[in-house]
Amino acid sequence: MTKKIHINAFEMNCVGHIAHGLWRHPENQRHRYTDLNYWTELAQLLEKGKFDALFLADVVGIYDVYRQSRDTAVREAVQIPVNDPLMLISAMAYVTKHLAFAVTFSTTYEHPYGHARRMSTLDHLTKGRIAWNVVTSHLPSADKNFGIKKILEHDERYDLADEYLEVCYKLWEGSWEDNAVIRDIENNIYTDPRKVHEINHSGKYFEVPGPHLCEPSPQRTPVIYQAGMSERGREFAAKHAECVFLGGKDVETLKFFVDDIRKRAKKYGRNPDHIKMFAGICVIVGKTHDEAMEKLNSFQKYWSLEGHLAHYGGGTGYDLSKYSSNDYIGSISVGEIINNMSKLDGKWFKLSVGTPKKVADEMQYLVEEAGIDGFNLVQYVSPGTFVDFIELVVPELQKRGLYRVDYEEGTYREKLFGKGNYRLPDDHIAARYRNISSNV
Ligand SMILES: Cc1cc2nc3c(=O)[nH]c(=O)nc-3n(C[C@H](O)[C@H](O)[C@H](O)COP(=O)(O)O)c2cc1C
Repeated sequence: MTKKIHINAFEMNCVGHIAHGLWRHPENQRHRYTDLNYWTELAQLLEKGKFDALFLADVVGIYDVYRQSRDTAVREAVQIPVNDPLMLISAMAYVTKHLAFAVTFSTTYEHPYGHARRMSTLDHLTKGRIAWNVVTSHLPSADKNFGIKKILEHDERYDLADEYLEVCYKLWEGSWEDNAVIRDIENNIYTDPRKVHEINHSGKYFEVPGPHLCEPSPQRTPVIYQAGMSERGREFAAKHAECVFLGGKDVETLKFFVDDIRKRAKKYGRNPDHIKMFAGICVIVGKTHDEAMEKLNSFQKYWSLEGHLAHYGGGTGYDLSKYSSNDYIGSISVGEIINNMSKLDGKWFKLSVGTPKKVADEMQYLVEEAGIDGFNLVQYVSPGTFVDFIELVVPELQKRGLYRVDYEEGTYREKLFGKGNYRLPDDHIAARYRNISSNV
């Protein structure tokens, strides 16, 4: 196998991302999340390790389902306090040259016109190193705080997301022609108004006449990620995503999602190879097996079951404080769910513990057998998990020819899909909005 593995660092602009309780670990620096130096140092570290991207998760509500209260989440810093991820990016871009930034933003709460402008701005400032992880998240507390009167059902949130992207594509791909900005000093023409177009979008959810406020950025449309594994979510991924962040930790589950999304993509006239698949992975690596186990035990000591129950409640809507261990949720007993949750075993993602060779073997196996293209690497301690990975696993992957030794030149899209591919390919649905002037 010669395919290079893409690796992103999985982060969030908060204290407790998904390893709840570990903020108390003596080596953990998560409390520094409000310090810009934490982020610039992290970005430089990741670039030293030749990472593809820093992937930033986000939520805009509180996990208040467990015990019908927000107290557990607030007390234990379960994704609260949580700051805005977009604000971090220009500083990190300033201290790096190649690292990309994949930022999560939900289509459920804020209007596409402002979001399209923020993404274009970041694509300019990063010189084409920005990606958007599209999610359709739903948290009741977010619905209330954003003043959402009519709460949409699951599948309709994806219908809205379809239209949200259509608006963004029209703004990014069609509103400004490539040569609209001419900077003609003699004739006092910065931009030729004939080459800036209204988009005249009128749909079920949005009315956006346009034009876009930004001139074309290096990638125009940011690299589109998607995360959401329901049937409707996979259909959405097949239509829009260039990268998919998959849930699942075993080969069978991952392979099912990969094959399913690639098959669906053909329906939209897309080359299935134009979609890169990412799995989450948790890595605890040591020079020896014993050293890795020692780290695992030290992490387990700080693991918080209560924190994970609060996260689970917010994510699924099930308040496990109301169930007995013999009750069932789907095909799993509540006792088993709680038992799984109490252990640091890679709840959502594959956990790989051991020597660099063992970790590299397991990563290689997942890539070869499930057909994935890369990983989002989960942290236990920050930045220690990434430091360990870069010092121990990266050289092992490089030795096997599975990981870049030097960065490729170009935008994030080019690093993923090859030189010259800085814009979306013609088989992507957004391409139809390119010549908007002749369509409207
Ligand atoms: C691997 C993975 C990561 C996700 N990360 C986020 C996130 O950071 N923020 C968020 O609001 N939702 C996140 N989601 C959930 C999405 O909000 C998704 O849109 C929602 O669960 C509905 O999708 P689904 O029912 O299709 O799975 C994630 C989902 C998956 C599978």
